[in-house]
Amino acid sequence: MQDTQAVRPKLGERATLAQWYDVVRAESLRRAQPLSPEDQSVQSMPDASPTKWHLAHASWFFEAVVLQAHQPGYRVFDARWHHLFNSYYEALGPRHARAQRGVLSRPSLAAVLDYRAHVDAAMRQFIMQADATTWDAAAPLVTLGLHHEQQHQELMLTDILHAFWCNPLLPAYRPGAQPQPAAESGGVALQWIDVPGGPVAVGHSGKRVCL
Ligand SMILES: [Fe+2]
Repeated sequence: MQDTQAVRPKLGERATLAQWYDVVRAESLRRAQPLSPEDQSVQSMPDASPTKWHLAHASWFFEAVVLQAHQPGYRVFDARWHHLFNSYYEALGPRHARAQRGVLSRPSLAAVLDYRAHVDAAMRQFIMQADATTWDAAAPLVTLGLHHEQQHQELMLTDILHAFWCNPLLPAYRPGAQPQPAAESGGVALQWIDVPGGPVAVGHSGKRVCL
């Protein structure tokens, strides 16, 4: 995975923010890449969402919060989709029921990827060409949208993990993958640790929890 921290800009730096935008948006597609269109349509429980929905929702955020609000003349990709891909933002209009996201066989995955490309083209132009006053107002929203998309990248993985766990064929997101030592932990290999139970000190702070 590309280190998104390495290119994270200071607020308002357009070129760096444009670069970070591309890195974050590409990471979402990279996480979806091992999944078939059918995999990406599954909603395994009301609290999980299809991968396709996450991909569209993160794009809807940029369209509704940045482009429609701050880019005069922006052409909405499909106004009907705002109902489908809004989630919990009451102020931005009504939305499709969360527990029913799995019934959205339309739009297709291909159409959602077209949506992402449409939003990306408009966002890149906006980031580099918005006038100074507009940019001052919108730059924090672009940053917010990228953090929001990264939040949904985490959800893409947790949600497909549950969906695959529900499948009797037990498909693997990454067949044959083994836990990797985290670089930030000094490369220590992950392992299970036996403990007797009861109060146990965990973490840096030694906080005691009951296992
Ligand atoms: Fe969201």
